[in-house]
Amino acid sequence: MNLLVMGLQWGDEGKGKAIDYLAGNFDVVVRYQGGHNAGHTVYYGDHKVVLHLLPSGIFSPHTASVIGNGVVVNPLQLVEELLHLQSLGVDTGNFWVSHRAPLILPFHQKLDIVFEQSRYHKIGTTRRGIGPAYEDLAGRRALFVGDLLDPRRFRRKAVILNEYYNRLVQAYGAEGTQIEEYMDAYMEAGGFLGSHITDTTWMLNRRFREGQAILFEGAQGALLDIHHGTYPFVTSSNPTVGGVFTGTGLPVQSLGRITGIAKAYATRVGEGPFPSELEGPQAEWLRDRGGEFGATTGRPRRVGWLDLVALRYAVMINGVDSLFLTKLDILDGLTSIPFVEAYRVNGRETRDFDPSIEFLEEAEPIVREIPGWQGSVSEIRLFEELPMEAQHYIEMISEAVDIPVEFVSVGSGRDQTIKRELKS
Ligand code: IMP
Repeated sequence: MNLLVMGLQWGDEGKGKAIDYLAGNFDVVVRYQGGHNAGHTVYYGDHKVVLHLLPSGIFSPHTASVIGNGVVVNPLQLVEELLHLQSLGVDTGNFWVSHRAPLILPFHQKLDIVFEQSRYHKIGTTRRGIGPAYEDLAGRRALFVGDLLDPRRFRRKAVILNEYYNRLVQAYGAEGTQIEEYMDAYMEAGGFLGSHITDTTWMLNRRFREGQAILFEGAQGALLDIHHGTYPFVTSSNPTVGGVFTGTGLPVQSLGRITGIAKAYATRVGEGPFPSELEGPQAEWLRDRGGEFGATTGRPRRVGWLDLVALRYAVMINGVDSLFLTKLDILDGLTSIPFVEAYRVNGRETRDFDPSIEFLEEAEPIVREIPGWQGSVSEIRLFEELPMEAQHYIEMISEAVDIPVEFVSVGSGRDQTIKRELKS
């Protein structure tokens, strides 16, 4: 059955590991949104590889790895990732990218920085040009991956945009971009990617009709969704379930189950509300213990306890079937584990999350604690062998969001995963 694997918090839930664990039985792994702002860490033999743009299925030559039309593509980054994997001996022949995926151009990156400096609300973007590239898509002036294959068409479109944005960035005192600075590199990338560029909508639909198993790989997380996240502190795409359809051209019937990834605590990179955020020594302890530094930017992540109010909302808007709880081992040894059970807003208690800033600024987290466990869970592979307190923590989460916890990750290795049989 087809599967969507998506993040339910603010990204960095450990999707790379989860997808790597789950990807084995799929014929196709497809990314549907985001760009190289993502950072999915996977282990290939002894090599730790951080994929920013390529789907995690890339390590299996039998799996078609697809970048759908909803992903914004920096072709130079894409070529770099492919070359790196080839140097590790990975067969990248079964990789495909949509000819209708919008391109990220050098001025998008410049704009990302200029916009950020001039904004009232700083977002703390990854500065990869993601937002400006999606703006051009919505503004109906984007260039697409297919344009890389036609230098005249590429130049004709790029010249107009380049001039338009040069005027803008120069008004902010930044230097403009000349098309000659990147034209050759982009054409070369187009040449390299050539036979991998295709109409992925048709390709995916054919495979779907043939009954091939498809894994949809989400990037970022539900609370960073441009429509359903903590706007304006969001990314510019739809990591939530709707993005699957707009970002691949597959019909709703193609979506089988949805497994949502949630960390056993919470993190956030960049600005924006984070009701369960910790400060001071406790935050430092959790950040260090969890290795919470951005895979893409290296930035220290903000950390906090698990927020069940926010998680319940993410489960609701996506229709998530089961949870993949990650990094349980990080909580080893705590006497008790705090978590956010509800919010108090204007004196009233609520469990109904509202992503708007106005609501979240007023929301005071109501924190409860549950007994922790001693010793390490890293070597445990059966749910029943987990300390009772860990089992209670997991069951408590499951009850709060009203779906089962199907997988529990107790370490970064693929085998450090507990799978529970779900009662049907
Ligand atoms: P952008 O996607 O670079 O525009 O950044 C917008 C917001 O999303 C910022 O707060 C980023 O830190 C955050 N963000 C983007 N991609 C990721 C990700 O893969 N993991 C976690 N946060 C992300």
